[in-house]
Amino acid sequence: MKRRDLLKGMAIGGVAGASGLGGFPGIWVKGGTALAASGDIPVGVLFSQTGAVAVVESTLHDACMMAIEEINDSGGIQGRMLNPYVEDPASDPATFSDRANRLVRRDRVVSIFGSYTSASRQAVLPVVEGQNNLYWYPTLYEGRECSRNVMYGGAVPNQQQQEFVPWLKENFGGRFYLLGNDYVYPREENNVCRKILGDIGGEVVNEEYVPMGHDSFSSVISRIRREEPDVIFCTLVGDSDVAFQREYRSAGLDPERMPVASLTRSEVEVSAIGGDAAAGHFSSAPYFMGHDSPENERFVEAYLRRYGSDKVTHFVNEAAYFQVYQFKAALEALGDAEVTPAAIRDAAVGLRFQAPQGQVEIDGNLHTHLWPKIGQWQSDGQAKVLVESSERVAPEPYWAYEGQICTAEGLQQA
Ligand code: ACM
Repeated sequence: MKRRDLLKGMAIGGVAGASGLGGFPGIWVKGGTALAASGDIPVGVLFSQTGAVAVVESTLHDACMMAIEEINDSGGIQGRMLNPYVEDPASDPATFSDRANRLVRRDRVVSIFGSYTSASRQAVLPVVEGQNNLYWYPTLYEGRECSRNVMYGGAVPNQQQQEFVPWLKENFGGRFYLLGNDYVYPREENNVCRKILGDIGGEVVNEEYVPMGHDSFSSVISRIRREEPDVIFCTLVGDSDVAFQREYRSAGLDPERMPVASLTRSEVEVSAIGGDAAAGHFSSAPYFMGHDSPENERFVEAYLRRYGSDKVTHFVNEAAYFQVYQFKAALEALGDAEVTPAAIRDAAVGLRFQAPQGQVEIDGNLHTHLWPKIGQWQSDGQAKVLVESSERVAPEPYWAYEGQICTAEGLQQA
């Protein structure tokens, strides 16, 4: 795999299935449900507010709702209000599928904003593809997907791992312990990590998975002690990430000798972990709360005013927020043309939006151009950015998989 010149060496500091709602009438047109010519614009809001990943996913709900209300408060979209149909799928993929079906078939939404885990996205996929609807998914994920019914707002591996893994090896060493929850996202990210390490002379000393929601890590920590890796490469999510990091700290393991390097951990997990227990460890993300931009200042200020001064913004709820504005821009671009999910998608391609992290752009492959960064957690719960890209990085969802490429025409053989 060729390492690209993406993060132009900007070192800033040193290292210290549809479950049977068949009773609803199906409305199927070529572009999906068509919007009535006047009245509210129905959209689905499908984020878990309960269950194993609610610690993070409930904050995507909050950011999405804030954007919807901001838009409505400032006159809607061409005078039409957004009408959110809110569901809580409780961190359960089967419930995601069920609720997505309800939103599309009963509530006739023209888009759904939803989900954190790849397991829940994959549960929704057959629903939105079958009904030709549009799913705005804000979360970092493993790539290897090229649906024409999903707007992917989060980072794919070339935007998160491409610089992070070599940087970790350079600074700490190349013996990696891969630890994640047991589902598609961690397994695929670890495949990519293994390939990068193979290319740069590193090695995987162990690869281990725990069930979703698992929160007892004493035996994992014993194995880590025994292996003495240079880096714990972590794709635990939600409650598991919080529990692991707390136990890691209680066990006295030292971030200077054996840092945890996460693709998922953000300010919201750090706030649940506690700043002291997370301090010194690393995350790769396109946005951190302390980012210095007028758009971020407004975003953070509005979010804290609305939800409480103890709350945090982070790279996934930032995307949940800006995707609603991308949706708005797409509808505005459509003007008087008929609004269907497919028309919204086509109007969204190429749109640029000044997001809190910087200007983001929707690629023809429906993924998003983002601003990768590497941050080190501090005891105040914020990240110090050590490395950041000097330019927006294009999404390559099949980056680690030679021979396939996701394009505006769908998946192609290269
Ligand atoms: C994830 O499951 N995409 C974090």
